[in-house]
Amino acid sequence: MIEMQDVVKKYPNKTTAVRGLTVNIDQGEFVYVVGPSGSGKSTFIKLMYREEKATSGKKLEVAGHNLLKIKNRDVPYLRRDVGVVFQDFKLLPRKTVYENVAYAMQVIGRKPRDIKKRVMEVLDLVGLKHKVRVFPGELSGGEQQRVSIARAIVNTPKVLIADEPTGNLDPETSWDIMKLLERINAQGTTIVMATHNKTIVDTMRHRLIAIENGLIVRDEAGGEYEFDD
Ligand SMILES: Nc1ncnc2c1ncn2[C@@H]1O[C@H](COP(=O)(O)OP(=O)(O)OP(=O)(O)O)[C@@H](O)[C@H]1O
Ligand SMILES: [Mg+2]
Repeated sequence: MIEMQDVVKKYPNKTTAVRGLTVNIDQGEFVYVVGPSGSGKSTFIKLMYREEKATSGKKLEVAGHNLLKIKNRDVPYLRRDVGVVFQDFKLLPRKTVYENVAYAMQVIGRKPRDIKKRVMEVLDLVGLKHKVRVFPGELSGGEQQRVSIARAIVNTPKVLIADEPTGNLDPETSWDIMKLLERINAQGTTIVMATHNKTIVDTMRHRLIAIENGLIVRDEAGGEYEFDD
């Protein structure tokens, strides 16, 4: 599902954020990415959905797309297969909950009837069917994150990538979001999640990839957090 071999990312200011990542993630896995601030977690994630281009690498494949070769005009096809969730939700403030989620289907030209059915289905899954007409500013942080997850999965991606999805949420709300991600994973979606949350990682065990200084230093099934940050 996700295959990387010796992937390197140098930013234009000469910072080498990722110095040779080699990793294989299979369909249906749930993977945490942990590591100190500045270790390269977000860069690793951005390489997976082509927010950043690799500087070099022997292989970088995600959901059947070769990201070392992909043309800019083909990036929208990649984005159908890879949903993304951020710490700060990134919802469109002037669109309602319904419109925020529907927009992801409109931009890829889905039929209005299909859009209505699918948007209501995912809003039901995230428990926000009753908030369709509300604007993001009228929602709690946890509710906004649910909308952003609904938007990320509305086109049934093979992979859901989340960069610190609970970073702005209180502990209780964070657990609700984690349960939701586990449900999405149970339906077969691969999940890759960068996090600083030791309690979550140590309680809800999944494969753990630890990055330090741009390199994978641990890769363990059900691994513990083990950082003091
Ligand atoms: N756009 C950029 N231009 C230049 N350097 C960058 C850029 N983005 C990140 N970096 C640098 O690359 C390194 C890795 O950053 P990255 O954001 O991947 O770390 P991170 O593990 O996600 O950190 P955090 O836990 O704080 O989110 C850092 O040294 C950072 O300063
Ligand atoms: Mg980061």
